[in-house]
Amino acid sequence: MPRSLTADARVAVLAWYDDHGRSLAFRASRDPYAILVSEVMAQQTQVGRVVEAWSRFIARFPTVDALAAATPADVLRAWQGMGYDRRALNLRRAAQAIRDDHDGRVPDDVEALERLSGVGPYTARAVAAIAFGRPVGAVDTNIRRVLRRALTGSDDPPASAWMQAAANASVDRFRPAAWTHALMDLGATVCRPADPACAACPIATWCRFASNPTNARRVTRGARPSKARPSRPAFTATTRWLRGRILDRLRAALDGSWTRVIGPVGVHDAEAVAAALRALARDGLVELDPADPRLARLATT
Ligand code: ADE
Repeated sequence: MPRSLTADARVAVLAWYDDHGRSLAFRASRDPYAILVSEVMAQQTQVGRVVEAWSRFIARFPTVDALAAATPADVLRAWQGMGYDRRALNLRRAAQAIRDDHDGRVPDDVEALERLSGVGPYTARAVAAIAFGRPVGAVDTNIRRVLRRALTGSDDPPASAWMQAAANASVDRFRPAAWTHALMDLGATVCRPADPACAACPIATWCRFASNPTNARRVTRGARPSKARPSRPAFTATTRWLRGRILDRLRAALDGSWTRVIGPVGVHDAEAVAAALRALARDGLVELDPADPRLARLATT
């Protein structure tokens, strides 16, 4: 039996959430499709950006059928500003599978959810808990940190199977959706990575991390910038940045006409731009004119 938060700690977390939880537009939805969209968006994009993009996306594709019938180009345009654009195509494929294999209804069990394109262990459990009230433990970065600290007293990562079992055992059986949101908010606003606000935490009295005085020192030390840390390349020098700029340029052609894409773009020379364009085509995000591979448009099929 994995360790789990106690019933008293669960009550304290939910009471804290009722008072201090973040009020986010997508949390007001009860529509499993809209919740699936929000969770896919929130996988790799900051919540602030998701709020606005989610409303736009749902207005453009209000139902599973609407998304399933859209072209990749339409979906990529609606995904503008989110980054990690492959998620948009996966979401469209997931909508097609929901339409074709699940009578148009988002499945309510973790295994079926995990079979959808782009839906991993975290997203499947988040949707099962938030949309369907299933008592399953979603484990994202914030939830992992809260449970790890509370249950092990350390910032060392436990095995992922242990973590998943602890998350499942900790879920509040009566309010799984609120529970999931509550742990995310606790991690984002109180149990922060470098400077946890243990004094403001509703479960400090049950938390092994908060009750261990050596952690205060460790956390402070971790927060200090380390001279030894290797410097990361500037974001504008990455392939991810370049791919995003190319897609932005193609999105601007609202009629889907062919657009000439040639370098340099930022610090990327013509050859790097051509290579990024070929990679986007391989990934199914863009189409290249067979007669002139510098002419591109968002994928239409
Ligand atoms: N990150 C992923 N899912 C989220 C949610 N439902 N609320 C806030 N942040 C999230």
